[in-house]
Amino acid sequence: METRAGDPGAFAHFDLTRVDSPAFVVDAARLRDNLRVLADVRDQAGIKLLSALKAFSMWSVAPIIGEYLDGVCTSGLWEARLASEHYDGEIATYCAAYKPEDLDEICRLSDHVIFNSPAQIERASLILEAARLRGESFDIGLRINPLNPEGEVPRYDPSAPGSRLGFPIDQLTEDHLAMVDGIHFHNLCEQDLEPLKRTWDKLFDYLEPFFGQIKWLNFGGGHHITRADYQREELIEFLKDVKDDTGAEIYLEPGEAVALDAGILVGTVLDTHWNGMPVAITDVSATCHMPDVIEAPYRPAMLGEEDAGVGEPVRLGGPSCLAGDVIGDYRLPVPCQPGARFAFLDQAHYSMVKTTTFNGVPLPSIWLWDSETDQLELIRRFSYEDFRNRLS
Ligand SMILES: Cc1ncc(COP(=O)(O)O)c(C=O)c1O
Repeated sequence: METRAGDPGAFAHFDLTRVDSPAFVVDAARLRDNLRVLADVRDQAGIKLLSALKAFSMWSVAPIIGEYLDGVCTSGLWEARLASEHYDGEIATYCAAYKPEDLDEICRLSDHVIFNSPAQIERASLILEAARLRGESFDIGLRINPLNPEGEVPRYDPSAPGSRLGFPIDQLTEDHLAMVDGIHFHNLCEQDLEPLKRTWDKLFDYLEPFFGQIKWLNFGGGHHITRADYQREELIEFLKDVKDDTGAEIYLEPGEAVALDAGILVGTVLDTHWNGMPVAITDVSATCHMPDVIEAPYRPAMLGEEDAGVGEPVRLGGPSCLAGDVIGDYRLPVPCQPGARFAFLDQAHYSMVKTTTFNGVPLPSIWLWDSETDQLELIRRFSYEDFRNRLS
């Protein structure tokens, strides 16, 4: 998979030895830039815009996100709790399946509780009624599956045949619509406006009879709105049209676009050897710190990497025992020797939230830098106890 980010931004001038290693460094100024872009789209289109915690839940910067956006979307009870403890604004929760015992609290914490099937809503109806009788106010939503594959990789495409995500749009009936306030779909990944338009075109005829009845439409995430070449003006016009046509409040809930190019993962070369090509072991692990490198898979861009043809690439991998703990082949901007520092770009989202301590590999510490003021703050350093306390 090709990732369409990797702009070093102000990190081009960041001295990597200012932090320990491995370390995530997030640039608050870049985060604010992204948020300004998103808030501008929101304001011009007259929609609501939530930040997806699944992508980026560095809650120490929640106050910054709250300054710009309308709230957050969460994936279940724990994220909803995190949202209510730290984030401002609305909370929209969607989970592929809720545990009945979690629903009371989810209803208390969330403004929108979005289900994956009408059958789940029916099973939960007594819980939902009881919550409302207790005075809790929340909307009920249904995630539908647009059956409109737009993904590069079928395994990660919510519209792929056999997908478990969302209720197939061709099965949606009037009775189902009567059970819900809003409709949700999530069908994109790092994508432009055209796939969103195609998805909406696919849904339009199914939903048109219910325009006026649907209170809100949530178009999920995957919109790469903060990428420099995203078609923002056209998006604004499109969203305005959808709002006019449907009479519904429109929500977007991007995650990646919030933190796009706002963070790096700094690492250090620990050892090198030759095995038909130069090989280096580093303190950054693909499997523990950037699992999407293996899962997606994709090749993260390196800060200051030399152009192809300059020197010989070195195969970089992590310190774990996993043979596949390989990040990729890189031309480092500095001599690849023990102690050398390097950084992978665009690591604020979907890396920090996915780290593990497999093999007892230490977690990267988390730093907040502001490239406008050059202020650098250690937010959290993890210890042996963090590793031990997840086990028993
Ligand atoms: C339901 C839902 N909403 C929002 C998002 C955020 O998507 P992205 O981070 O690609 O913008 C996702 C990502 O998987 C999702 O599944």
